[in-house]
Amino acid sequence: MPNKILQAIFERRSRREFTDKPVAMEDLQEIVKAGIWAPSGLNNQPWRFVVITDAKTREQLSTTTHYSHIVLGAQALIGVFLDSDAVYDVVKDHQSVGACIQNMLLAAESLDLGGVWLGQILKNKEKVNQIIAIDQRYELMAMLALGHPAHRNQKSNRQDLNHFILKMI
Ligand SMILES: Cc1cc2nc3c(=O)[nH]c(=O)nc-3n(C[C@H](O)[C@H](O)[C@H](O)COP(=O)(O)O)c2cc1C
Repeated sequence: MPNKILQAIFERRSRREFTDKPVAMEDLQEIVKAGIWAPSGLNNQPWRFVVITDAKTREQLSTTTHYSHIVLGAQALIGVFLDSDAVYDVVKDHQSVGACIQNMLLAAESLDLGGVWLGQILKNKEKVNQIIAIDQRYELMAMLALGHPAHRNQKSNRQDLNHFILKMI
């Protein structure tokens, strides 16, 4: 596909199985950098991050989600938070964090890494903050599980475009 951006969007898949190879800190920083270059309402940049590679912390966090096997298998995690003290508009700030997370997933793929957006863990978001020792004013939006993918065989599907486009006037 000649269009690299569209190719990256269409070929990104959620990667849930990883090798034991550690993820370079520079790559994790690059992924966060891609996140912060997402658009945000009023350029408010309400996102905050906790980058986690420490094995003990990853093990503790694995107890907070149904997807413990993914958390345990990932060599790195990035917690994406909304700074509640920085919110100017609840809807727009949440939308901005979503854009940030998508940028991060695409960046991970472009660095030959892979990852998955974990949302189920939000059920235990207060416990996550306790484990990583950050103030509850930072509201967990997602935990990204990242690593070197064990394979890239994942398939996904979408409904037909006509299902989503209500009108083309
Ligand atoms: C808000 C949100 C929450 C998600 N939570 C989880 C999760 O807790 N566990 C998981 O394995 N995948 C989770 N996913 C990944 C979706 O299952 C995945 O994006 C979807 O099935 C489409 O597959 P694809 O990403 O490979 O295109 C989540 C995705 C989003 C956007």
